[in-house]
Amino acid sequence: MAMKFAYWLLVIAGAAAGVYVDEPLLYDTFPPDFIWAAATSAHQIEGGWDADGKGLNIWDVYTTNSSVVLDGSTGQTACNSYYFYQKDVNALQSLGVSHYRFSISWARVLPNGIGEVNQPGVDYYKRLIAALKAANIEPMVTLYHWDLPQALEDMGGWLNPSIADWFEEYARLCYTEFGNDVKIWITINEPWVVAYQGYGSGINAPGKYGPGTYTYQSGHNLILAHARAYRLYESEFKPTQQGKAGITLNINWYDPKDNQTSSQEAAERAMQFLGGWFANPIFGDGGYPAVMRQKVDEKSAAQGYNPSRLPVFTAEEKLLVQGSSDFFGLNYYTGSLTIEKIQDISIVDYGADQDIEASYDPAWYGSGSGWLKITPFGMRNTLKWIRDRFNNPDIIVTENGFSDNAGNLDDLMRVYYYKHNINNVLKAIKTDGVKVIGYAAWSLMDNYEWGSGYTQKFGIFSVDFATADLNRTVKASGRYYAQLIRDNGFTVDQPCNNYPIY
Ligand code: GAL
Repeated sequence: MAMKFAYWLLVIAGAAAGVYVDEPLLYDTFPPDFIWAAATSAHQIEGGWDADGKGLNIWDVYTTNSSVVLDGSTGQTACNSYYFYQKDVNALQSLGVSHYRFSISWARVLPNGIGEVNQPGVDYYKRLIAALKAANIEPMVTLYHWDLPQALEDMGGWLNPSIADWFEEYARLCYTEFGNDVKIWITINEPWVVAYQGYGSGINAPGKYGPGTYTYQSGHNLILAHARAYRLYESEFKPTQQGKAGITLNINWYDPKDNQTSSQEAAERAMQFLGGWFANPIFGDGGYPAVMRQKVDEKSAAQGYNPSRLPVFTAEEKLLVQGSSDFFGLNYYTGSLTIEKIQDISIVDYGADQDIEASYDPAWYGSGSGWLKITPFGMRNTLKWIRDRFNNPDIIVTENGFSDNAGNLDDLMRVYYYKHNINNVLKAIKTDGVKVIGYAAWSLMDNYEWGSGYTQKFGIFSVDFATADLNRTVKASGRYYAQLIRDNGFTVDQPCNNYPIY
């Protein structure tokens, strides 16, 4: 009792000082039929980079320059899931998940992105889906997780408005071949990363540099391509296949650093530039967020850009885009603190357009990735932010996870991360009325972490990269997650949940 009282004093003192401490866990269960999943993506796990007629994708080509990846590595073998997919299915089965979120490699099924189909590539996904079904696991399939066929990049990639046609053709193939077995489709994973890191800052494939121009142009094409793939599903496949299609956005939480109005506005502005950029056209009023429109239009004019660097949707495009998602896919990882910082007007950059400065509280636990701090309160706040701005949509948390560099099996920090983040999802559902219908842990296993190569490990299974067998071994976090799934929530008697202080 005394301890409990002391704890609450700490919470109150902490809140007053702007310090973040653990809140007591909510012991309760998730709704029945809640989707429990683990996630991966094609390029990060499959290997088989040139197997059986697969075409090259932009990551295959980009990483031939080893200096763009921290450890100089490639995804040529990765977890070799193209051959070892049964090991993945076994791992998933031992977790007890209801769904597996994976992605299709566009260049594996359409080596040139459009045109001729590569049958062995199609057959691979049929084998994987059949193995999942045999294990009683439903596929949740992403069409585009960053691995554009190089042949399409050679024609301008996401900067070419024709990509909406190309993406629709690819989507049609996938719905036709796999749609009888796939009831949840995700069109595009994290268009923000594609637009800003692929075509803006250029730190991801294809490594194009246009931080204040290409960023918005590719972002616009990503939204239109998504909408075309969604409408195709809605009109031609959904009536018989009866599934859902949606998009996944990465939204991390921006907290105001202090009580100043300017900081609160800066935090909201940052949320709009990150999440609203894609969510407002699709889930909101059909256009870009007002604050984004205003900032980029004003700066464009001052910089001599006419028209604005931020494109405008035509009335017809608005109709296509607005409402083009059956659920809101959310990838949430971390949070930061925000103040206003007016940037030099000569800087033509999506980052500078926001007039903010973000930082981390040094008290937050870190991870194996510089950008990833443990801020579970941000999960709940982000879910409420989506609820309030986009009319309380169904949400699937399509990614949430933690990295380390050691890759140890006794990964207690990852257990802590999952426990508190998932508990905040539960609070959002039970206390705040947010309609979260599913959750996927990133990632099923350690894999190719893009520009960080194999140095940052997100798996709840480890992969033995030292041997050709690439065996998967469960970590403590995988055991914890499996128990949570069995309980469909939080029980006091699960040893990892049961702190004396609570
Ligand atoms: C996400 C991405 C994943 C994975 C994860 C961890 O942004 O969708 O592919 O890399 O981050 O960094």
